[in-house]
Amino acid sequence: MKKLIIIGGGNMGFAIASGISKKGLFSNRSILFIEKKSERVNYLKRMGYFASNDLIKTIVKERKLVEVVILAVKPGDFNDSITLLKKSVQKNTLVISILAGVKIKSLEFHLGKKQPIARIMPNTPCQIGEGISALAFNRNVTGKRKDKVRKIFASIGKTIEINENSFDLITAISGSGPAYFCYFIESMIDSGKKLGLNQKLSNKLILQTAKGTLLLLDKNNLSPNELRKSVTSPNGTTEAALKTFQKKGLAKIIFSGINAAKERSIELGRLNK
Ligand SMILES: NC(=O)c1ccc[n+]([C@@H]2O[C@H](COP(=O)([O-])OP(=O)(O)OC[C@H]3O[C@@H](n4cnc5c(N)ncnc54)[C@H](OP(=O)(O)O)[C@@H]3O)[C@@H](O)[C@H]2O)c1
Repeated sequence: MKKLIIIGGGNMGFAIASGISKKGLFSNRSILFIEKKSERVNYLKRMGYFASNDLIKTIVKERKLVEVVILAVKPGDFNDSITLLKKSVQKNTLVISILAGVKIKSLEFHLGKKQPIARIMPNTPCQIGEGISALAFNRNVTGKRKDKVRKIFASIGKTIEINENSFDLITAISGSGPAYFCYFIESMIDSGKKLGLNQKLSNKLILQTAKGTLLLLDKNNLSPNELRKSVTSPNGTTEAALKTFQKKGLAKIIFSGINAAKERSIELGRLNK
């Protein structure tokens, strides 16, 4: 039986495994987690996976059966996980890294230039199968293996394939994006409160408005610009708010924020060389 190893059984590692087993790409029992925290190991076991914080012996014994290794630790733990990673793979094992800021070049430096490597930037909604992941491959990842990677990440949301050079921007857009939406939602909830609503009511109104707006865009195949214009009557309430946003330079502020995230991603990438 072909095996899949996931190094790091945190939120994202677990989300990927759930998608994979749901779609039957690997069975639960052929997924091996290597995870540092013992309480997390116990949780993964309860969920039907093989998990341990000391799989080295098993791995070395079963290395020939390992088809894919997914590296899913925090970027700061990259250096600590390299020995494990090296021990888990053979020369032709497909290595998939989801570590923000860790370049294919760095992985090749440790694993050799012949290793097939895919670099992925997923995002938090992958945890409920509604994420979007950017995929990039080195030259050793061929047709069938590319398909495998596509299927793995399609099991937790949508996928796009893009040159690795764009990863810092992708990180700043879809990687960090969920936090920006949450910040905007939080600010709207606070405004509701300041203007007289209680917390619970403001929460309910704003969250359903956010959810309904995205579903409406999707269902009616509308662009945000079309939907916005359709609800903005001349001299009406929506226009009053939008004019204030424009006067105060909200679009410029959002651009600066996203640009700062991109610059930070570049900086972190330099640290992880
Ligand atoms: N979460 C997201 O939305 C998201 C989005 C895009 C990309 N990513 C990327 O996905 C990766 C994982 O994120 P996450 O949110 O799943 O992190 P997480 O919940 O912290 O999971 C990582 C897990 O790996 C464990 N670990 C650390 N070093 C290890 C080692 N050497 N061997 C085995 N296990 C080890 C950690 O244990 P300790 O906590 O004890 O160290 C932790 O339980 C990150 O690199 C991040 O850049 C995440």
